[in-house]
Amino acid sequence: MALEYPSSTFIGIDVNSSFFPPSDKYPPNVCFLTSNVTYGIPFPKETFDFVYLSMMYSAFTEQQWSELTKDIVRVLKYDGWVESLETTALCLNRGKVTKWIEEAACIACMKEKGINCRITDLLPKIFESNGLTNIKCIKIEYPVGEWFGCFGKYSMNNLRRLFQSFVFLPEYMGISYEEYIDLLDIFVKEANENKTYTHLQRCFAKKTWIG
Ligand SMILES: C[S@@+](CC[C@H](N)C(=O)[O-])C[C@H]1O[C@@H](n2cnc3c(N)ncnc32)[C@H](O)[C@@H]1O
Repeated sequence: MALEYPSSTFIGIDVNSSFFPPSDKYPPNVCFLTSNVTYGIPFPKETFDFVYLSMMYSAFTEQQWSELTKDIVRVLKYDGWVESLETTALCLNRGKVTKWIEEAACIACMKEKGINCRITDLLPKIFESNGLTNIKCIKIEYPVGEWFGCFGKYSMNNLRRLFQSFVFLPEYMGISYEEYIDLLDIFVKEANENKTYTHLQRCFAKKTWIG
């Protein structure tokens, strides 16, 4: 985008700078900033024409999503747009073991971190309650499993890695960590057999006032 729009300035924000590319790998109208956005977006009001955020669904509590949206609205200019791209997290056409893991993960994420695993579905409402208008959301099917070739294998491996990182989950499921890891093999098998998929949701919304 920065190459396509050379007269615009692009600022990338992440709390963890290790994800930023080396400076010789991006054009001069791009910069990166290390910042924890739960303390506010470090820019004056009405700075940006466009704010984009993606794959942040597990980073914030519902309260933090509301506060962040309010702050996005603050830094947007009149007629500016926000766009979000998030996964709906929960699988469809899922097998029994996948359902068990996902339901336990939702309970555990809420108890351990205050994270609502269904936050993506709530985003349009959160946008609306912060005064954004022209809200439009599009859901895209996102296959999980080798049944959808190398793309499905890639998304399944991502999800498997995510499940594997939930070291607190076996306790919620009443099983040992070793038993839990074995279940992840069943998840892989089930995804292929059931043609499991999830959704990506892209939402756009507009700020239609000054201030
Ligand atoms: C799943 S990654 C998504 C990265 C990128 N947005 C993308 O779509 O590829 C989530 C990112 O959120 C960052 N993050 C988590 N909490 C944050 C916070 N409070 N402020 C800023 N960044 C945060 C993490 O460091 C991580 O890089």
